[in-house]
Amino acid sequence: MKEGVSKHNIDASLLDIANEIRGCEKCPLFLGRLHAVPGEGSAESGIVFIGEGPGKEEDKRGKPFVGAAGKLLDEMLAEIGLKRDSVFITNIVKCRPPGNRDPEPDEVRVCTESYLWRQLEIINPKILITLGRHAMHRFIPADKKISVVHGKLFRLKSPTSGKTFNVLPQYHPAAALYNGGMRGILMEDFKKIPRILKTLSS
Ligand code: URA
Repeated sequence: MKEGVSKHNIDASLLDIANEIRGCEKCPLFLGRLHAVPGEGSAESGIVFIGEGPGKEEDKRGKPFVGAAGKLLDEMLAEIGLKRDSVFITNIVKCRPPGNRDPEPDEVRVCTESYLWRQLEIINPKILITLGRHAMHRFIPADKKISVVHGKLFRLKSPTSGKTFNVLPQYHPAAALYNGGMRGILMEDFKKIPRILKTLSS
């Protein structure tokens, strides 16, 4: 959480951004959405999860990760002693790409420049966990492969403020839904989160 700024002010600033997102018409994705999905949770733990973009269920409910992949995310959080509402969960794009296609580079650029970086400035996370390669490549150079770098900690500069973020890339929970091997890998990477937080705060 940002030093010297009260929880009340952080929550109010995040709410202001969420309201902007709900009225956003900056890219064509607004045309197909039922609800924009700004993200939700608490800034206090300093743990932020960033996925790719809302799916059908998220679009219906206006909340991130509430479908099948979200259920797995909740289970993995519980395994490491975290409740969903103790972390902040969001996406690189806040509106559902039609038919769950990948977000276009321009959609990602406009959405992250308009909203994600601002959310992160306010939250000032101790650790950012990217879920899947699309979210990862917002932070980590395009030549890095998720199969090589998942579960490894990176220290990267924010393009807007120059602030350094700790980024832990992980596979997307959707990839682990029907693949037991992948589920095991994702869980091992999840288990690193409390260990990394401990070393960051010591
Ligand atoms: N997949 C994502 O990347 N984000 C969501 O919110 C849901 C599914």
